[in-house]
Amino acid sequence: MKKFFVTTPIYYINDIPHIGHTCTTVAADILARSHRQLGEEVFFLTGTDEHGQKVAEVAAKEGLEVKEYCDKIAPRFEEAWKKLNISHDFFIRTTDPRHEKVVEEIMTKIYEKGDIYKGKYEGYYCIGCEKFLTETDLVDQKCPLHPPQQTVKRSEENWFFKLTKYVPKLIDLIENDKTNYIFPDGKKSEILAKLKAGVNDVSFSRENVSWGVPLPWEKSHTIYVWIDALINYYSATRFVEGKEDFWPADIHLLGKEILWFHTVIWQAMLLSAGIELPKKTYTHSFYMIDGQKMSKSLGNAISPEELISKFGVDGTRYLVARSFPSTDDADVGLKRFTEKYNADLANNLGNLVSRVCKLGVNLQSSNFKLQLEKEFVEKIDNLKFDEAVGWVFENFVDKSNNRLNEVAPWKLSANDPKRIEVLTECAKNLQLAAWYLEPIMPQACEKIKKLFEGEIKALDKPLFMRI
Ligand code: MSP
Repeated sequence: MKKFFVTTPIYYINDIPHIGHTCTTVAADILARSHRQLGEEVFFLTGTDEHGQKVAEVAAKEGLEVKEYCDKIAPRFEEAWKKLNISHDFFIRTTDPRHEKVVEEIMTKIYEKGDIYKGKYEGYYCIGCEKFLTETDLVDQKCPLHPPQQTVKRSEENWFFKLTKYVPKLIDLIENDKTNYIFPDGKKSEILAKLKAGVNDVSFSRENVSWGVPLPWEKSHTIYVWIDALINYYSATRFVEGKEDFWPADIHLLGKEILWFHTVIWQAMLLSAGIELPKKTYTHSFYMIDGQKMSKSLGNAISPEELISKFGVDGTRYLVARSFPSTDDADVGLKRFTEKYNADLANNLGNLVSRVCKLGVNLQSSNFKLQLEKEFVEKIDNLKFDEAVGWVFENFVDKSNNRLNEVAPWKLSANDPKRIEVLTECAKNLQLAAWYLEPIMPQACEKIKKLFEGEIKALDKPLFMRI
C-alpha cells in the first residue's frame, strides 16, 4: 500500500494555539484525510516543541518547574486539535525521552563525521524565534517578528555545525528537478539566492540554557532547541510503533518564517548524518490582522475556540481552508469569516441541501462510483484549497442551483419526470460535492452523503445556521 507521511511544525509550548497554528494543522489534516481517501496508508504527525530558553522563561514566570509547565500546556494543544477534528496519528513532545535518545544519536553521528567544532558566537539572538539572527534578519537591530526586548546581544561559547560544507550539495539538490524539495517555486528561488550569496556555519549548542537535551560529548552544553526540534520528524519514525518505513517524509508543512531551518539546516543535518532527505517541504505565508502578522506576542490572535463557537467545527475548518495563505499573506478577521460563512455555507451549500431534501424527499437517488478527478487532487496536493473548493462549488453546487432555478421543480407536480430528473441530478451532485469536500468538512459531508444515499431523506435542521 502506498504510504504518505505528512508533518506540521511542532509548536512552541509557551502559548496555547491560535488560528495561525490552526491553519497549518488543518492543512495537514486535509492532506492526511485526502490521502486516506485515496486508499493510502497515512502517518500524520504533529506535536509540541518544549525545550529552550523561551519555554523555560514562561514556566519561571508562572512559578512552575519547566516540565510541570509543559505537562500542563501540551494537553491544551491536543484538546484544541481534538475539538477541530484533527486526525493526527501521533502527537510528539520533544521532552519524550524516546525522542531525546534519537536526538543524541544523530548529534553523535554528525560529531563523529567531523562536522561539528567549538567556537564563539557573538551577535544577536531573538528569544521569540529562538534564533541566532544574521544581519539580514534584523530591522533596526531588532527581530521584526517579536517585541524589541526579545532581541538580545549574546556572546557565548557554542558548538558549530559546518553548514558551509554542505552548501554546494544543497544548491545542486535544489536546482535538480528530481530533488527539488522546496515548494512553492518562489521559496525555492529565495533559498537559492541566499545560499549563493554565502552562508556561515551555525550554532548547534547553547551555553547557559539548561532546559534542553545535553550535548552527548559536553554535557554542560545544551543542544540548540531548533536542532532538537527538527529531529522530531525523523525520531517519531524511529520510536512510534510501525512507522519506521514512513521515512523519508512526503511533505513537511511550515510557515515562511521557518523556511531556512527546514530547507537548509534540516537538510544539511540529514546529509551529514547520512539519512535520506524528505521529499518535499511546503512553505505557506501568514494570517494577518490589519496588515500585521497574527501572533500572541502582538496581542492580535484569534483562538480556534472562538471560531468554533461561532461557525461550528466544519465551518471553522472550511473558513481556514478557504483563507489558507498558500502563497501570499491573507488578511483575516471575524467580519470576513462571517460573510464568507454566510455566503458559501449557509446561503449556498446549506440552502441547496435543504431545498433538495424538502422537494425530493423519498425519491430514489442514483448509485454511482466515485473517482476523484485528477484536477481536484492536484489542487489539494499543492495546498490550493481555495481553488479546490471553488472547483467543487462551480461543478456541483452552483450547477445544481442554476438547474433548480431553471426548471423550478416546485412549480411541477410530484411525479412530473422533469421534476424527478432535476432533483435526482442535484442529489447526485450533492453526494459528489460531499465526497470532494469531506477532508475539509468531515462531519457535514458525512451527513450530506447519508441524506442522499439510496433515497433522499428529510432534513431535521439546517446544516449551517445563518449568522
Ligand atoms: N517550534 C517552532 C517550529 C519547530 S518545527 C521543527 C515554531 N513554533 S511556533 O509555535 O512559533 O509555530 C510556528 C508555526 O505556526 C508557523 O511556521 C506556522 O506554521 C504557524 N503560524 C504561526 N503564526 C502564524 C500566522 N500568523 N499565520 C500562519 N501560520 C502561522 O516556530
